[in-house]
Amino acid sequence: MSVQAEEQVVAPGVRDGSVASGAPVQAGDADAAVGRALGDLNTNQLRNEYVDQGSFLYLSDFLPADATQRLIDAANALMPEVNRNFIPGHKAGGSVSRHTIDRLQPWIAELYRSPKLIAWLEKITGDKLQLSPQDDPHAYALYYYTRAGDHIGWHYDTSYYDGRRYTVLLGVIDDSSCILDYELHTRDENKPDEPGAVQYPPGALILFDGDKLRHRVTPSREGEVRVSLTLEYVTNPNMRPWRRFISNMKDAIAYFGFRQVFRKALQSATGGARKTGGSV
Ligand SMILES: [Fe+2]
Repeated sequence: MSVQAEEQVVAPGVRDGSVASGAPVQAGDADAAVGRALGDLNTNQLRNEYVDQGSFLYLSDFLPADATQRLIDAANALMPEVNRNFIPGHKAGGSVSRHTIDRLQPWIAELYRSPKLIAWLEKITGDKLQLSPQDDPHAYALYYYTRAGDHIGWHYDTSYYDGRRYTVLLGVIDDSSCILDYELHTRDENKPDEPGAVQYPPGALILFDGDKLRHRVTPSREGEVRVSLTLEYVTNPNMRPWRRFISNMKDAIAYFGFRQVFRKALQSATGGARKTGGSV
C-alpha cells in the first residue's frame, strides 16, 4: 500500500484558519469503522465476483450504521457549499470537491485514507493502489441530485492518469427514484455486454475500474434528494500535461467550477498545494 502519496495530512478540526463544522475527528475512527464494515465479508469470494463482473462489485450493505449517519450529517452540512453544474444533454447536478471536504468535513478525508479500506480494495482489485494527487478534486467528492432532472448520461470514469483509476461509490442519501444503470464487459471483446441497474441505498458500496464500466444515473424528479460519495484511487498518479489540461477543463465545467479547479492547479504547479511534482 502506498498511502504516502499525499504528504499533506488533513488536520482534524482546524485548517486554513477555519473550524470544521463536523464532529471532532478521532484518530483512526474512520479506519475502525471500515474494520467493522469488513468484519464478516468473504474477500476471496468477492474478489471472484469482481473479476467475473469485469472489474465491478456491488455491496448493498457495507458501512456500519453510525458511519453512514456520519456521512449523511456531513452531506447535509455541506449543502451550502454545493457547486451546481449543467451540461445540456449530458449532466445536471451539484458537487462538493475534496478541497471543501478537507476544510469542513475532514472525517471523509480520513475515510478515504483508511489503511484497512485501501488494503481491502487492493485485495479485490488485485492492484497496488495509491491516493489521487492533492490537486485532484475527485479524490473524494460528494455528488448531489437535488433538482428535478438532475442526472448524468452514459460515460466511463476515464483515467487521465498514466495508470488505472478506480471509483468507489458510497450511498449517502437516497430519497429519490434515480437508478445507476451500467453495462459490464463493454471493453471485453470476448464477453457480451451485460446490462445491470441498481438503486444503491445509504451505506452501500460500489467499486469499479473507471475505464471498464459504462454507466449513467437516471434523472431525479421534483422534491427528490440523492447524495453519493465518490472515492478515487489510482495505480500511477502521474498525468501528462495535455491530459492534465483536459482533465482540469472537464472538472471545471462539469463538476467544481473554474475557481476551485484552477486555483488548486496553479498552487500545485507553483508548489503551494502539493509539495512534490509527482506526488508519489
Ligand atoms: Fe461516473
